[in-house]
Amino acid sequence: MSFRQVMAFAALVGAGLTGTHLAQAADTPADFKPGDATAGLAKAATCGACHGVDGNPTMPQYPKLAGQHEDYIARQIELFKSGKRSNPVMMGFIANLSVQDMHDIGAYFASKTSLPGVADSKLVAVGEGYYRGGDGKDGVPACMACHGPDGRGNPGAGYPQLAGQYADYVSAKLKDFRDGKGFSDDDHAKVMLAVAKPLNDNEIAALASYIEGLHSASTKTSTVAK
Ligand code: HEC
Ligand code: HEC
Repeated sequence: MSFRQVMAFAALVGAGLTGTHLAQAADTPADFKPGDATAGLAKAATCGACHGVDGNPTMPQYPKLAGQHEDYIARQIELFKSGKRSNPVMMGFIANLSVQDMHDIGAYFASKTSLPGVADSKLVAVGEGYYRGGDGKDGVPACMACHGPDGRGNPGAGYPQLAGQYADYVSAKLKDFRDGKGFSDDDHAKVMLAVAKPLNDNEIAALASYIEGLHSASTKTSTVAK
């Protein structure tokens, strides 16, 4: 996909993709009730060891789930379960979850707040430039076009929250995307493959650091630098 196609796709997706559509894209039946956060708390008991009981893990190799959208979490669990998104660590913990469990767990973590990290002050300017403006020359779209100025994403369109996510995890995913490894083989997963293709290691490091510090302040969106 070209830069232009990515943005056209974004407009299309932003206009019409619903939670149900996403679930179908991951081959799940649409017969589930909206997630129940209270039921999800009990079902998420085994997840806390790595992801933190409130979805804020202490170790940076595990992604934060706090504040992530219900449908996005359910989609990713489904993709792990089907083996489309492959991770040997995750497999053992989600193999027995039903679609309803995935939504309940998603609703539980969605109800928590992601704790922002701290960006490296030497990397903020480059990271912020790419996040907010992209790079027209290389065809990198602005991340905020889909993931939002404050990094909260867009649940209806299936654009995940990035704000506060650990830089280690973000940079590992961006390198996977650049190498053509997406979360699935559907069009939705292909978006990030096109986005990340032109990025070099320095740009990925800057973006990842900026995202770790990104959070919503009361008056304006900002990133904390160290
Ligand atoms: C032993 C550690 C461990 C446990 C326990 C664990 N996970 Fe994970 N989880 C991981 C790792 C590692 C990743 C990152 C995989 C990757 O790099 O793609 C991950 C990724 C995820 C993602 C994708 C996040 C994203 O931003 O795309 C979701 C959703 C998830 N886990 C949900 C769960 C749920 C729900 C449970 C409990 C039922 C659970 N995990 C238990 C280690 C764990
Ligand atoms: C056209 C919309 C769009 C743009 C622009 C975009 N993304 Fe994404 N991004 C997505 C979608 C869609 C997904 C989820 C893919 C899936 O569920 O298979 C995603 C997922 C991600 C993830 C994985 C999140 C997680 O929790 O595992 C990261 C990291 C990411 N994007 C970073 C970026 C960065 C950095 C930029 C800017 C250089 C960017 N994105 C620009 C649509 C976009």
